[in-house]
Amino acid sequence: MTVPLGRVTPVVRVAPAKLNLTLAVMGRRPDGFHALHSVMATLDLADRLAMGPAFGPEDRLHVVGDGSGPVPDLGPVEDNLVLRAIRAARQALRAGGDDRPLPALAVRLEKRIPVAAGLAGGSSDAVAALDGALEAWGAGDLLDPEARAAVAGSLGSDCPFFLAGGWAAVEGRGERVRPLPPPRGEAPGVLLVTPSVSVPTPAVFERYAAGVRPAGGAALASSTHLAGELQAGLSTARLLERAGVLASANDLVPATVALVPELVAARRALARLLERPVGQSGSGPTLWALSPSKADALGDAVIVRAALADGLLSLPGDGPPFIAAAALVGGSATAPS
Ligand code: C5P
Repeated sequence: MTVPLGRVTPVVRVAPAKLNLTLAVMGRRPDGFHALHSVMATLDLADRLAMGPAFGPEDRLHVVGDGSGPVPDLGPVEDNLVLRAIRAARQALRAGGDDRPLPALAVRLEKRIPVAAGLAGGSSDAVAALDGALEAWGAGDLLDPEARAAVAGSLGSDCPFFLAGGWAAVEGRGERVRPLPPPRGEAPGVLLVTPSVSVPTPAVFERYAAGVRPAGGAALASSTHLAGELQAGLSTARLLERAGVLASANDLVPATVALVPELVAARRALARLLERPVGQSGSGPTLWALSPSKADALGDAVIVRAALADGLLSLPGDGPPFIAAAALVGGSATAPS
């Protein structure tokens, strides 16, 4: 659509969460980040962004919850990745020689993805804001895919993945993204359980760098093997047969549980309750259990809520855990709702 110069078109973006089915860490790079190999998929659990003109000189961000609890605390607003993404989009257009007016934007961010949970909600919001800002200014075709990828990579290690979303093998610091076909058949379901404990990603990687890590390279073997199997065409049923291997294919788990030791017992208790392997997404603390469909995952959520209410399961944290059923649907960060 052609937007008159200086005008802002209101846009809506959906920003999905991601799940790490595997996460192998291969050591620290010269730039301080760690080299990774991870098979990731986007979920139908998503934040929503509505963007429009700010009618003032400054970009503005207004965060709301999903109505089920308090508005999540995202820290200082000016540091928020959504506003940083808008600023980065403006800078990239200017650097590319575009001198059209790029008016300030107002963003309403509806948070559904738990914050600092290992589900990359902030990174996904940033990519959605980048795409949304370009469209709002009528400048969507002015940044080619490479320039977009560079801006996304500058915002965070998980951001390049969200440019396409879906299923992918992610390597490097996170900037090398190889799309993979999703499993054949019904989209797998997943139960997400996020205990209300703080596990900052930099602290987890610091622990890893200090030597709190598994020996052996099993996660890398599992991760590359899964990527190969998906590439060759894997059914959802076969993927689920590998749940035990995948649940133990996250090299950050020892570092995460060094920060919150209670997560070890929580994970075991959850696995016993569901009679299923339980894995960790990213740097945690989100725990996951795969199932054949979202409907099955909804059943798992009922079981876990009931066990918590009856005192049969206890999870660490100073508040209620986030519990949700999702599907590994492979949507993109940029699809309008
Ligand atoms: O890139 P992002 O800001 O999401 O990363 C958060 C932190 O996680 C980084 O500051 C770094 O400490 C760590 N990290 C890493 N290697 C990666 C990704 C993240 O060491 N590949």
